[in-house]
Amino acid sequence: EVCKGINGLDKVVLREGRAFSAEVYLYGGQVTSWKNDHGEELLFMSNKAIFKPPKPIRGGIPICFPQFGSHGSLEQHGFARNRFWSIDTDPPPFPTASINKTFIDLILRPSEEDAKHWPHSYEFRLRVALGPSGDLMLTSRIRNTNPDGKPFSFTFAYHTYFSVSDISEVRVEGLETLDYLDNMLERERFTEQGDAITFESEVDKIYLSTPTKIAVLDHEKKRTFVMRKDGLPDAVVWNPWDKKAKAIPDFGDDEYKHMLCVEAAAVEKSITLRPGEEWKGRLELSAVPSSYCSGQ
Ligand code: BG6
Repeated sequence: EVCKGINGLDKVVLREGRAFSAEVYLYGGQVTSWKNDHGEELLFMSNKAIFKPPKPIRGGIPICFPQFGSHGSLEQHGFARNRFWSIDTDPPPFPTASINKTFIDLILRPSEEDAKHWPHSYEFRLRVALGPSGDLMLTSRIRNTNPDGKPFSFTFAYHTYFSVSDISEVRVEGLETLDYLDNMLERERFTEQGDAITFESEVDKIYLSTPTKIAVLDHEKKRTFVMRKDGLPDAVVWNPWDKKAKAIPDFGDDEYKHMLCVEAAAVEKSITLRPGEEWKGRLELSAVPSSYCSGQ
C-alpha cells in the first residue's frame, strides 16, 4: 500500500474505477496528485516543489492546522503540513459508510517538540477517499484529548491548488456579493461585486460564510471543478501573480498562470473544542466537463 515517492518519502496511491487515481504523502498528510480517467492531473504541483522536510510541499492539498496564515504565534499555516503523519490502522467508524470507495486513513498526534509551541494534546484523523466516478473526498476529524480539562482553538484550511490552463480564462462562481477579508490589506473587510470572480492581478482573499458549493470554471480546458465543503464556513482564494511568484523560492516565475488556490477554510471564527469534543471538516472535489454543468 505504501510506496516510495520523491526523495524516498512514503506515499500511498489510491486507484478507483477505470483509471482514477490520487496520491497522498505521509509527509504533510498531503494529497499531491489527483487524476481523472484520462490520466490528466487535476491538481497543480510546482515544478520547483521541494519534497524535503522541513519545507512544506508546494502544490496539491496542504493542510493548514492549527493556524491558517500568519495571524497567531505559530509558523505560517501551522505545522500539520510539515509533519510526518502515520497510517491509522484502526480509525473509529464513520457515520456514513465508505462503500464503493477507495480510501486511506492517516493520523497526526503532537510530538514533544510541537507541544512546546502549541501545548495541547489532540488526535487529527484524516481520511482521503476516491469515489467511483473519481471524486476526491477529504474528511478531517480533530479531537481534543487534553487531560487537564483545557479547551483549545484553531483555524484550518484545505489549501487546494487547482490546475488550470490559463488563469485569465478562469472564473469562480459561488462567492459573488459575499463579504471578504483582504489578506493583502491586513485583513480589511470588503464586499464582493455581483459578478463571478475573474483574475487579472494578485489576489489573496478570505470569503466569509460562503455557500457549501463553489465552482471553478476553466474555460479553455472546458472543465469545471466543483468543490463542496462541510464544517468550513470560509473560502480563501489565492493567486500570487507575477511579482509575488518571483519572490517564492519553490514556485516558478510563470506558474501562477496555471494554478488557482480555492481553499475550504475556517478562518474568521476559530473552532474551539473542549476535552473529548471532536470537530469534523469535509472537502469534496469533482471535475466535470463544463458543458455538463453550465450549458456552455
Ligand atoms: C494562502 C494565503 O492561503 O497561502 C497567502 O492566503 C499565502 O497569504 C499563500 O501567501 C501561500 O502560503 P505559503 O506559506 O504556502 O507560501
